[in-house]
Amino acid sequence: MKVYNSKEKISETIFSVKAENKSVGFVPTMGALHAGHLALVSKALEENDIVVVSVFVNPTQFDKKTDLEKYPRTLKHDINLLKALSKNNIIIFAPSVKDIYGEKIKALNIDFDGLENEMEGKFRPGHFDGVGTVVKRLFEIVNPDNAYFGEKDFQQLQIIKKLVEKFHLSIHVIGCEIYREESGLAMSSRNERLSLEQKNAASAIFKILKTAKEKFASQSAKKVTDWVVKEFTKHKLLELEYFMISDVKTLKPINRKSNKKTYRAFIAVFADEIRLIDNIALN
Ligand code: PAF
Repeated sequence: MKVYNSKEKISETIFSVKAENKSVGFVPTMGALHAGHLALVSKALEENDIVVVSVFVNPTQFDKKTDLEKYPRTLKHDINLLKALSKNNIIIFAPSVKDIYGEKIKALNIDFDGLENEMEGKFRPGHFDGVGTVVKRLFEIVNPDNAYFGEKDFQQLQIIKKLVEKFHLSIHVIGCEIYREESGLAMSSRNERLSLEQKNAASAIFKILKTAKEKFASQSAKKVTDWVVKEFTKHKLLELEYFMISDVKTLKPINRKSNKKTYRAFIAVFADEIRLIDNIALN
C-alpha cells in the first residue's frame, strides 16, 4: 500500500494512473477511520480503478481549539484498516499542515449561496470556510473523477456539491447513506470519545429522529420541533443544541409544509463537550 506525505509525489502518481485511462475515486477523511468511512472506501473501490483516501485533520474547520487538539489521530491503525480492504488499489495521502496551507494557516472565504449560513454554519462560525478550503485544495491535488461523502454531514455534502459547481470542477460528488452502530447512533470518529454511559444515552438521538419523522407525516414542523425539544429534557446526559426541519435544496428552515418540497430533519446534540450531529430524510 502506498502512503504519500507529499503533494508533489501523489500528484505525479495520479497523473500516471490517469494517463493509463484509469478512474480515480477519492474519499477525504480526517482519519480515526470507522466502519462508516470503510463503507465509503468500499463503494469507491467498486466504482473506480484506484481510490485515494486522504487523512488530514484540517485545523481551519475547528471552531474550538480543544476539539482540534482532542481529535483522535490514529494513522497506523487507519492504514491497517485500509490494507484489509485492498493492498493494491488504495493510495493514502497524509499530508502535513504546511503541505496544504503553506506558512499561513488560513481559510478562504467562500460563498456557497447561503448554504454555509444555516445550521452547522450558524453554530460553528467559519466551519464551512475551513471545509471548503481544504476540500478545494485536496481536489486540486488528487484531481479525482468521483468523490465520496457521507450523508451524516448532509450540509457538508450539499456545500461540496456547490463548491464543484462554483469552481466548475469536473468531479462527480457522491453522497452515501449514514452508517449506524447497532444502537442507531450515527458512526462518527467522535463516538470514540464517549463514555459507555454517554454512548448508551446517545442512541436516543436516532430514536427521536425516527419518531419525529413519523410525527411529521401528520403534524406541523413547529409541533414536531416542540416535541423534540421536550423529549430531550428527559435525557440528562444529552443537551440539544438545535433541531431543525429544512428544505434539502436551500437548507433553510421550513416555512410552510409543501408536498412539492423535500425535507430533512437535522439535529446537533452535546454529550458533555462532545458534539454529535445526525439527520433523517422526512419525505
Ligand atoms: O467530513 C470530514 O471528515 C471533513 O470535513 C473533510 C471532508 C475530510 C474535510 O476535512
